[in-house]
Formats: sequence, C-alpha cells, structure tokens
Amino acid sequence: MKLVLIGAPAAGKGTQAARLVKHYGIAHISTGDMLREEVAKGTELGNQAKSIMAAGGLVSDELIIAIVQERIKKDDCQKGFILDGFPRTVVQAEKLEEMVKLDKVVYINAPDEVMLERLTARQTCPKCGATYNKMFLPSKVEGICDVCGEKLTQRKDDTVEAGQKRIQTFHEQSEPLVGFYEKEGILFEVDGTMPIDEITKAIIAGLDA
Ligand code: AP5
Repeated sequence: MKLVLIGAPAAGKGTQAARLVKHYGIAHISTGDMLREEVAKGTELGNQAKSIMAAGGLVSDELIIAIVQERIKKDDCQKGFILDGFPRTVVQAEKLEEMVKLDKVVYINAPDEVMLERLTARQTCPKCGATYNKMFLPSKVEGICDVCGEKLTQRKDDTVEAGQKRIQTFHEQSEPLVGFYEKEGILFEVDGTMPIDEITKAIIAGLDA
C-alpha cells in the first residue's frame, strides 16, 4: 500500500501515520522528521534547512525530492509506505507520480484555529519521537515521555508566529494538492477535528472500502 497524508501543520498527519503503519505493517516516511534529524546532526543539508524550517517556509523542491527518491528505495518500503509531509507542492506531486503509483491520498482537514491551538501545545520526545499535547494528549507525568522516560521538548517551529506562517504556507503551496489528487480520483478526505481514535477508524474504513 502506497499512501500520502496531506494536511496543514498539526492537522494530525504524524499522529495518524504512527497508527496506520502499525495497522498495515508499512514504512513511515516523514520528511519533517528526516529534516529535523539532519538539523540535529548538523549536516550540510540540515544547515541549509534549519532557518527555513524555523521561519515556517518550505525547503526547495529539488532537495526534498532527492531525499524521498532515495528513501523509498530502501528495503522497509517494499511492502508499502506512508508519506507524511510529502508532497507539499504540485511540483513535488508531479515528480512523485513519476516515481510510484499511489493507492490513496488521505486529506486530514481542520480549521486554522484548531491547528494553531494544537501546535503550540505539542510536546515531542527527542529520543523516541513520541508526540504529546499539553491540552489534548498529555503524558502521564508532566514533561516526561511515557515510552522512554526522556524529557519532552517543544519544536522550534511550534510558536504562534512560525505556526501562523506554516499554516499560510500550507494554504498557498500545499492546498492545491487537494484538487490535484481529486482529479486523479484517489483523494479521501477525513474530518481532522474528531478525536484521534475516530479519525484512525475513519481512515482505515476509507482505505479498506
Ligand atoms: P513537518 O514536520 O511535516 O511539519 P508539519 O507539516 O507542519 O506538520 P506537523 O508535524 O506540525 O503536524 P502533524 O500534522 O504531523 O500533526 P501531529 O500529528 O504532530 O515539517 C516541518 C518543516 O519541514 C516544514 O515546515 C518545512 O519547512 C519542512 N518540510 C517538510 N516536508 C517538506 C516538503 N515536502 N517540502 C518542503 N519542505 C518540507 O499533531 C499535532 C499535535 O496535535 C500533537 O500534539 C497531537 O498530539 C495533537 N493532535 C493530533 N491529532 C489530534 C486530534 N484529532 N485531536 C486533538 N489533538 C490532536
């Protein structure tokens, strides 16, 4: 199964991807996570991406396409994958079409104010990658990861200012993908304001239909 998850910042792509990869036994490819790893390692790619990401913009199509092209060749993608955060522009989507035939594109849709509220309350584990939310999905012990006990952190781009810019970037550059995949007849839209479990159920029902 080859899937794409589209949605504005904090729509719930990463949260749902983590559940769907377990359910279907396929690989999770998050371009945001891959870029954050490069930033943390201080590689040349990371240094190029760092300020763009912190300001809420998009890294160049060429750069991200090259990363994805390599990633989907890896063994863990043989049974399928979920692309979370790619494509984000029509240029990226056109290039992806040349690389693979997608089965479905899931669009998690939620209003801007919901996403801004969620992203400013998000906490992530720098060690195992688990995601929490101070308002909607708190860890059992405040500030500590339930899974591995690491201290939780806040992403640099999860401020009100960067969040607003990321949402604007989504509307300008990524929202056209909804029409793009609608025309292809493979778009499935889900209401991102529902509780997390309900969204997972709705996506699985839509994919298995
Ligand atoms: P990326 O990491 O992909 O960030 P994003 O798209 O802004 O998405 P997020 O990770 O913020 O949100 P999400 O939808 O995964 O939500 P989550 O499940 O965590 O990209 C970061 C940056 O990298 C980009 O800005 C760009 O610079 C660069 N980049 C990446 N890909 C690129 C590309 N293809 N081209 C160019 N540049 C690229 O949920 C958010 C919070 O809400 C969590 O706290 C969660 O617990 C909570 N939550 C989730 N669902 C619910 C729910 N239903 N109810 C209540 N709370 C919920």
